[in-house]
Amino acid sequence: MIDRLFDRAFGAGASPLRHLGTLGFLLFWVLAASGIYLYIRFEPSVAGAYDSIGGLERWFGGALRSVHRYAADAFVVVTLLHLVREAAAGRFRGFRAFSWISGVPLLWLLYASGIVGYWLVWDARAQFSALATAEWFHGAGIGAEPMARNFLGAESVSDRLFSLFVFLHIGLPLALLGAMWIHVQRLGRPATVAPRALALGTIGMLLALALARPALSEPRWDPLGAPDSIAIDWLVQFAHPLMYATSPSALWSFALGTTLLLAVLPWLGGRRHAQPARVDPENCNACARCVADCPYEAVRLSGGKAEVLAGRCAGCGICAGACPSSTPFRSVRDLVSGIDLPDLTVHALRDRLQDALAGHPDSVTFRCQSSEGVPGAGEIGLRCLGMLPPSFIEFALRNGARRVRAIGCREGECPWRLGLELSQERFARRREPQLRASVHATVHATGNEHEYAFALR
Ligand code: HEM
Ligand code: SF4
Ligand code: SF4
Repeated sequence: MIDRLFDRAFGAGASPLRHLGTLGFLLFWVLAASGIYLYIRFEPSVAGAYDSIGGLERWFGGALRSVHRYAADAFVVVTLLHLVREAAAGRFRGFRAFSWISGVPLLWLLYASGIVGYWLVWDARAQFSALATAEWFHGAGIGAEPMARNFLGAESVSDRLFSLFVFLHIGLPLALLGAMWIHVQRLGRPATVAPRALALGTIGMLLALALARPALSEPRWDPLGAPDSIAIDWLVQFAHPLMYATSPSALWSFALGTTLLLAVLPWLGGRRHAQPARVDPENCNACARCVADCPYEAVRLSGGKAEVLAGRCAGCGICAGACPSSTPFRSVRDLVSGIDLPDLTVHALRDRLQDALAGHPDSVTFRCQSSEGVPGAGEIGLRCLGMLPPSFIEFALRNGARRVRAIGCREGECPWRLGLELSQERFARRREPQLRASVHATVHATGNEHEYAFALR
């Protein structure tokens, strides 16, 4: 429902809701670029830090500073929305467990990067936050509280401590980037580059916000006192007031409890999964198309043959749709493909097609089970549009069908991420296995599904 509203406003291809993880990557690069400039202008010492940041001219350095701050806030927001969206859609179990679990440390790294970033400003907010963090660690027995208070409050606070803050604000984001890279390792073609319109829109909004509401410092860090009221960044620093409203140990329980809950979520309440794909070495020529198309990096070549890593397999059948041996034109009684779904084989698909051609020779329809429409009589059901080898379309047309339709889901709604995209590329002859040039394809995208119509030229 909300998705549909956003799709209408932005188009499904550029809807921020469908690109939350991708936006995370974009925001990281915005932070890195603005951060490098700030670092050049920054004086990393107790004496110079506050003035070097506060003294940035409004129209360039100051604007970049504000972009940096608002991008950090936006990063938190899109990451939390991404988490909620994946959780609400139940996308955390089985073959997705790796993506889910590897997302959890990202939360820690993200908040830690943001919190230490504020320390570099060396204002009252930095003082408050650094002290709150030291007290939190003291609550877990790390570091002595009076020492932290005295040390961070002392006039003699040293440039060495400051260097540690700078080191943390470079090291933690780098660790975050490494962890983001790991996070998408089990996904084929991960969407880490935002569509141009979305990227420009996001950067434009950050700039507009930066100019309209420039980010400012609080009063200078005062080693001899603590200010009465500080405006904190609730998105990044919410943990500090939460700790003072409860206790350091309550905050530890909350942080570790939430982490544990998220980490075990993939194992709470089971759901049966489709059977993994199976390789028939006799019919595999090691062309690696299945390796390239699998949305979950579940196939690899080993010993000159494809091999399925069963634990990662979603059972979507996209690999079978990619395999050159999955063609109904082969004159074999048992159509065995190089890679296939045991519970919905290419052979069974050919049987159903032949039945459909015998029953309704005029028009044949292949329908993805995720499309919204109700399957009509004689329609051939697919697990994913991507499991349909284009040769099936030509086969139907050459064996009596005047018209062939293939119906897939809405853009951005493939449960296996890439089914619609890969089919589109195959039908447009931009990807193997291609639709033959003798077949003409037209596409019609309605509100609910993508419908392709094919005819012989
Ligand atoms: C720094 C923060 C994060 C970034 C930049 C990020 C980025 C991404 C990207 C780019 C994808 C691939 C989307 C696609 O190509 O389909 C993805 C997928 C995913 N992310 Fe994240 N993510 C972040 C945090 C998280 C967190 C905190 C969780 C949950 C604990 C999470 C759970 C997932 C899951 C389950 C998928 C797989 C979706 C699927 O299989 O369809 N991510 N993420
Ligand atoms: S069915 Fe094939 S394409 Fe789909 S996840 Fe399994 S190995 Fe990959
Ligand atoms: S697509 Fe088919 S032939 Fe090519 S590597 Fe995969 S299983 Fe083997």
